[in-house]
Amino acid sequence: MILGIESSCDDSSLAIMSEDFKVLFYKKISQYQHEKFGGVVPELASRLHTIALYEMMLEVKKFSDTIRAVAVTNEPGLSVSLITGVSLAKSISLSLNIPIIGVNHLFGHIFSLFLEKKEDFPMAVLLVSGGHTMILDIDKFGNIKLIATTSDDSFGESFDKVAKMLNLGYPGGEKIEKFAKNGDENVFNFTIPMVNNNREEFSFSGLKNQVRIEIENIGTDIKSQINNICASFQKTACLHILNKLEKTIKKYKFKKLGVVGGASANLYLRGKLQDLCNSYNINLLFAPLEFCSDNALMIARCGLFKYQRMEFNNLDLNIKPTTYFDKLNQSSS
Ligand code: KG4
Ligand code: ZN
Repeated sequence: MILGIESSCDDSSLAIMSEDFKVLFYKKISQYQHEKFGGVVPELASRLHTIALYEMMLEVKKFSDTIRAVAVTNEPGLSVSLITGVSLAKSISLSLNIPIIGVNHLFGHIFSLFLEKKEDFPMAVLLVSGGHTMILDIDKFGNIKLIATTSDDSFGESFDKVAKMLNLGYPGGEKIEKFAKNGDENVFNFTIPMVNNNREEFSFSGLKNQVRIEIENIGTDIKSQINNICASFQKTACLHILNKLEKTIKKYKFKKLGVVGGASANLYLRGKLQDLCNSYNINLLFAPLEFCSDNALMIARCGLFKYQRMEFNNLDLNIKPTTYFDKLNQSSS
């Protein structure tokens, strides 16, 4: 049994998974307290993790005898949040005399595709979360190379920022999607970012500014236009993802695509991705909706993968707030 710990941003979560993928324990405590600030306040996040992780540990204690390793997110994320989980993992490792396994949170998200089954690489992955927007190449051994990333805001972050402009609260992704359902996506004609260049790169800050200017122009009538703004913004942000993804599909000709990260719960995006993959005969995989956002089950699952390969860390495991992946060798295209 592997105990997984997740505390990289604003969700505290613990999970215990057995070797045959049975879930013995799963709990997540999300920090709604950030909502009034319109974004995550690191110092508050850190304090809330300390309280929530302790609370959940009381429930996990009864499994102490059966836990064989502790897997913990140690990169990337908010340093003060990562520290809480890593410190807890170290004390569990020391007191139970079991190995510690550092898990890259982004690699963890990829394992949300394999919560109940054996991993199946190689594949390409679209990661859309609050901190990242990436297209990744995973080889048959599970090694990750970067195909594309964002040069400014992430996909999820742009939803959060537009939601903040419209006073819809935080996190904004779900809220924008909800309002967009009742809107007309063709009312506002936002420009799709970087549509005429071939760079393997995303950019969302220009689109965010287009929305900001439109909101300022609308002024006091904004209430009547919220649904239409959300729908038009969501369409343009998703079309940007689709455009860039289609370019990489044509170049790298991958046959399997996994889509992970909190924003992969967006059903509009899922529908568009399904259409794109159908037209290129690509096998498309999503995580269960409940496990798209940050959770410890994907960390335990990734920990199991690393445990089976005996990839252990020591008590000097450090946090790494930022992750850099090497670019996929251009010559392999
Ligand atoms: O993966 P995640 O839980 O945390 C990070 O690792 O960042 O992703 C959270 C992000 C937030 O930016 C949130 O607004 C976005 O995912 N998100 C969505 C939706 N649900 C969550 N974005 C668009 N549509 C959604 N339905
Ligand atoms: Zn995440």
